Amino acid sequence: MSPTDQITTVIIIGATSGIGRKLAELYVQKGCKVGITGRRKELLVEIQKTNPDHIEIACFDVTGKENIPVLESLVQKLGKLDILIYSSGIGEPSKELDWQLDKLMVNTNVSGFTEIANWSFNYFVNQGHGKMAVISSIAANRGNSWAPAYSASKSFQSNYFEALAIKAYRMKKNIGITCIEPGFVDTKMAKGNKRFWIVPTEKAARQMINAIDKRKRKVYISRRWWFIAKLMKWMPFGIYKRFG
Ligand SMILES: NC(=O)c1ccc[n+]([C@@H]2O[C@H](COP(=O)([O-])OP(=O)(O)OC[C@H]3O[C@@H](n4cnc5c(N)ncnc54)[C@H](OP(=O)(O)O)[C@@H]3O)[C@@H](O)[C@H]2O)c1
Repeated sequence: MSPTDQITTVIIIGATSGIGRKLAELYVQKGCKVGITGRRKELLVEIQKTNPDHIEIACFDVTGKENIPVLESLVQKLGKLDILIYSSGIGEPSKELDWQLDKLMVNTNVSGFTEIANWSFNYFVNQGHGKMAVISSIAANRGNSWAPAYSASKSFQSNYFEALAIKAYRMKKNIGITCIEPGFVDTKMAKGNKRFWIVPTEKAARQMINAIDKRKRKVYISRRWWFIAKLMKWMPFGIYKRFG
């Protein structure tokens, strides 16, 4: 085994800003080789310049048609793939039930996500090991009238990951499948004036890395959001409709 084989390699889909960018920074600090993606090339280049030996970039839109070839060439640049994290996401309120907004969220959070999660699961099955994670949301737990497509798309991500965890178990494959459901993390995406229990981005990213390391199947960021998730699931519709 060559020394480079021992370096953990990570791909973060959606790492030009927010949680994905902080995850990339922390993995590089840990000595990993990290492949980062996003649509904003100037940001990818700026991040790569901070540590060119440990960062590779791939500029693409997950709603496009080139996801898999671009990912494959990113893996080639890294030499191998140990961890893939899907952080790309759009979360816009759709108060007037705007189809263009809903379509954008479905294309990014459902279509792009599924194509990449499907590819990485099969990649790790063939390789015999690996870890994958998605940054879903606490919104996955119930329909939300302010952002119907967002809550539905996050529910899709969480269910898809649960299904993959069962699939890996049935196939007896050594693949860590971690579904992350944050409440509010302090990035530009966390909008609105009703935010509470906001977690600083670095703290959130550290908790996420820890969960992925430990191969946790499901994690709430921060942990107290577990209670909100249970409450949301349990609440009868007649009560929930006043909040959701
Ligand atoms: N912040 C929160 O409170 C919170 C709470 C729960 C869940 N989350 C989830 O956490 C994830 C990360 O969000 P964040 O808070 O870090 O927001 P953010 O700063 O807006 O980051 C979103 C990332 O997704 C990428 N992205 C968006 N659309 C894309 C597309 N079509 N193709 C490729 N990349 C795309 C963006 O890169 P480009 O613009 O360069 O393409 C960016 O790097 C999202 O999935 C979000 O739903 C966030």
